Amino acid sequence: MDSIRIEGGRPLYGAIHVGGAKNAALKLMCAALLTDQPLVLERVPRLADIRTLEVLLAQHGVDIKVEDAANPQGQRLILQAGEITSTTAPYDLVRRMRASVLVLGPLVARCGTADVSLPGGCAIGARPVNLHIEGLRALGAEIDIEGGYIRARAPKGLTGAIVRFPFVSVGATENLLMAATLAKGETVLENAAREPEIGDLAHCLVKMGAEIEGIGTDRLRILGKPSLGGAAHKVMADRIEGGTYALAAAIAGGKVELIDLPAEHLGAMIDALRRAGVTVEANGTGTIVRRENNRISGVDVITEPYPGFPTDLQAQFMTLMTIAEGAAMVTETIFENRFMHVPELARMGANITVHHASALVRGVPKLKGAPVMATDLRASVSLVLAGLAAEGETVVSRVYHLDRGYERVEEKLSACGARIERIAA
Ligand code: EPZ
Repeated sequence: MDSIRIEGGRPLYGAIHVGGAKNAALKLMCAALLTDQPLVLERVPRLADIRTLEVLLAQHGVDIKVEDAANPQGQRLILQAGEITSTTAPYDLVRRMRASVLVLGPLVARCGTADVSLPGGCAIGARPVNLHIEGLRALGAEIDIEGGYIRARAPKGLTGAIVRFPFVSVGATENLLMAATLAKGETVLENAAREPEIGDLAHCLVKMGAEIEGIGTDRLRILGKPSLGGAAHKVMADRIEGGTYALAAAIAGGKVELIDLPAEHLGAMIDALRRAGVTVEANGTGTIVRRENNRISGVDVITEPYPGFPTDLQAQFMTLMTIAEGAAMVTETIFENRFMHVPELARMGANITVHHASALVRGVPKLKGAPVMATDLRASVSLVLAGLAAEGETVVSRVYHLDRGYERVEEKLSACGARIERIAA
């Protein structure tokens, strides 16, 4: 297994191209199942998770062409589900990536049948899919859990309904949104998630012929159509990848331009960064993040559904707080086990006390390099960021977690002056 070696203590100066959003691209690819016409997706990041979904979709009968594979700004995928040859998503593929469960809604909506493996547990929390199941039941699907599989049947098609989610779920909103585009009549999704990636999916569905009102709000109204057509769509920029590099600049010091990431996409992070003493400025279609000589101030954050502070930047923000002046309270409200970076950061000299869902981070003047590893994507990258600020050498192992969500992280950071390299196993 590859690892990443970092020699810390160098500021970052330069520009970083932010890629297409993984968490938008995955759902957009699933939307290809809704039509027999081609769906062309631009700026698709080259990531392990994207390849995993390609394998799953191919197994359902989707023909996938990859163009521009070498383009650093992202590849183009042409997906065509002319005929669905299998409506089963097997355990072996779903367990590799939970987002695979997003084929459920499109398959049952188009084919009237779907057998999708339950994804099982995950390092960051139990992550059940009960809201996806209950939502599809409300649209008339008969669903049983059998042999570890969600077996959904709607031989006469789905029918629109009012679905009120008891709490906000990104994935359930997306599964139901896709399913509702082919249901008979009107569906209203209340207390829907408002993450920008859902807006990106909805805009693409509209290009495919769907009728959707309330995009960007917590109430989506969908008027189902008998069929959808093809479309071409450019995946939105990855606000989590961009936010991670913004935090890299804050941690290491220096000045980094995030190309193609509009400042407003950083949402609640901008305020947290500014309060910490980091300068964030819009620069045309990009963003400039700068910390010159000042120390960072401690800032409390609480993760919340969008537009709140994103859970996917919690680990990276906590890393920034480890070197702040004063203390910061970082509270995680989305996932019950998303502090696995804490013991690893402690090995680098961070002072963090966890009490239930909150971590009290007392800033230290310097982190010290160490061999570390993590068990999920964002925790892994938070350790790379810690390595940038630490004295001496840090080696982050289990890099396959990083490769699921960050494309060429070592190239992007070394182009800005970081001493970072991948060591092949
Ligand atoms: C998406 O996961 C993202 N994944 C996650 O990013 C992200 O952290 C999360 O949204 C929150 O923003 C993708 O987009 C592929 P949820 P998702 O349904 O859809 C509970 C990353 O690092 N829940 O909004 O699975 C659930 O357990 C990943 O890129 C139920 O109880 O998240 C969690 O506690 C990690 N029942 C909370 O809701 C359900 O049926 C929010 O989960 C569904 C969810």
